[in-house]
Amino acid sequence: MSRKKIIAGNWKMNKTPSEAVELVKTLAPLVQNPDVDVVYCVPAIDICPVAEAIKGSNVKLGAENMYCEDKGAYTGEISAAMLKDAGVEYVILGHSERRGYFGETSEDINKKMKQAIKYGITPIMCCGESLEQREQGITIDWVRQQIKVGYQGISAEDAAKTVIAYEPIWAIGTGKTATSDQAQEVCKAVRDCIAEIYDDATAAAIRVQYGGSVNGGNAAELFGMPDIDGGLVGGASLKEDFGKIVNY
Ligand code: PGA
Repeated sequence: MSRKKIIAGNWKMNKTPSEAVELVKTLAPLVQNPDVDVVYCVPAIDICPVAEAIKGSNVKLGAENMYCEDKGAYTGEISAAMLKDAGVEYVILGHSERRGYFGETSEDINKKMKQAIKYGITPIMCCGESLEQREQGITIDWVRQQIKVGYQGISAEDAAKTVIAYEPIWAIGTGKTATSDQAQEVCKAVRDCIAEIYDDATAAAIRVQYGGSVNGGNAAELFGMPDIDGGLVGGASLKEDFGKIVNY
């Protein structure tokens, strides 16, 4: 089965609303590639202006996080219904920065996964090991555990439409990219894990991204690997280099 590549920018905590609109305008002519799903995952406050700025373009809108409840007394949180109403189609869940700085567990992420699916938003679920875990030789065990808990209680039909981003923590924002063989090895293990939980058809359908210091110079080699269906891009998504990545 041939899977359409998906290349998503993760803006993290960057760009004010007016800067966000400027960036969308700058990138617009550079990120056109009909063979790729292009997504901007932006800070919550930038969602509405970016939704307006990308109208009529090939770019899809994503959020960087959301809460797992429908609505109510959860001060400071944002619901799936709010995202959906604003035009959001994708949401990053369980980024290592959310897990590391904000204490999100795989159980929390599982609840958010179910909530996103309930509202018709495609989750981009992140997984990945620390340098210590890689050196200890437990990378694949760790990532399998994150996936197994993250997908608890989710049907094969729903799982097939989700996206998984494999992001080794030691490669995020460090300029130290995983080699294409290292990235392929774990992305294949991710797909094998999905086959084990569900079946081969679900594993063949699900899209697995690599993330961690992807740039215009390394994207082609990474995205050329058989189990890598695109990337989740941090730093380089804020620059014109993102156009090179999208047109790898
Ligand atoms: P990076 O970030 O591309 O800046 O390494 C990737 C990510 O955290 O999603």
